[in-house]
Amino acid sequence: MKKRVLTGLQPTGVITLGNYIGAIKQMIEFQEEYDSYIFIADMHAITINQDPIELRNNIKSLVALYMACGIDFNKNTIYIQSDNPYIANISWMLECNTYYGELSRMTQFKDKSKKNANFTSGLLTYPVLMAADILAMDTDYVPVGIDQKQHVELARDIAIRYNKKYGETFKIPEPIIKSTGTKIMDLQYPDKKMSKSSENQKGVIRLLDDLNVVRKKIMSATTDSEMVVKFDTVNKPGISNLINIYSSLTNKSIKEVESEFKDSNYGNFKTKVADVVVDVLSDIQNKYNEIINGDKIDEILDHGMLKNIEISKVFYEKMKKSIGLGRK
Ligand code: TYM
Repeated sequence: MKKRVLTGLQPTGVITLGNYIGAIKQMIEFQEEYDSYIFIADMHAITINQDPIELRNNIKSLVALYMACGIDFNKNTIYIQSDNPYIANISWMLECNTYYGELSRMTQFKDKSKKNANFTSGLLTYPVLMAADILAMDTDYVPVGIDQKQHVELARDIAIRYNKKYGETFKIPEPIIKSTGTKIMDLQYPDKKMSKSSENQKGVIRLLDDLNVVRKKIMSATTDSEMVVKFDTVNKPGISNLINIYSSLTNKSIKEVESEFKDSNYGNFKTKVADVVVDVLSDIQNKYNEIINGDKIDEILDHGMLKNIEISKVFYEKMKKSIGLGRK
């Protein structure tokens, strides 16, 4: 039987080049070989305040973007997290088997709760919902960027603990993190992750950005004064980030990229990086415009929803029974 791979992205605004390289591109590579699931994590999105109309528009737009990026709906099950009522129920049963201490130690929770004193309890329990997404789908592998690694590891801990307490129920999932592109950094502040929520949009490339603007963002990326295209994240975070982007999009190794540009100045190097990024994005944008105006999306999501429900319902029933909920 094929191994199962699963990942999700939040529909909060247009996804970034970081999301594409860290998660979607990996899924495209895996779809040939694995039983693949990719979903829209809309329930995760509401852990912080969202405008309802914008959120709903972003959901379909993200499905169209998945497909425009190369997620093949014949090889992947694509669904919306909130279309399946079992996930939140499973999440609750898992929450009652997860410790407050574990959740409050998560790096993302610590960062985000520091930024806003009025954070919701959903921000704290967010990784358990993620564990429910993963475990209730009998997942083997979870391709993510490095920022989500800790959450996948927590899902493993929760599964192991649950299996010990209630008997063999869940598979123990493994995060898949590539050697390059696991954390694309902000172009202006290369010590920070490229993030949708960044205040300065000059450092963030979104997949639907105007291509001239994309070029400008890359050309004005922060570098250093050394003028050597060399991978060194400590002393040359800006250049290393551009090398990382170039390497991920061309499938060349870091060493190959360094040697390709050993005689280049930063201007030439940035132009080449911009060419590659613009090429990839222009292709995605053309496809996106066709898909978003087509009528296939609802059919794909209905199919995905049914499959997601069918698999998770079995876990839901089994959990209820082992935990002692409901009637005999
Ligand atoms: P989200 O929406 O924040 O990010 C989606 C994916 O993109 C990766 N990523 C990056 N990779 C490289 N460089 C970056 N700058 C960068 N920024 C983001 C993330 O690591 C992630 O893989 N909680 C998840 C969504 C989720 C999920 C799941 C994922 C919900 N349930 C179950 C896997 C399995 C999230 O908020 O991702």
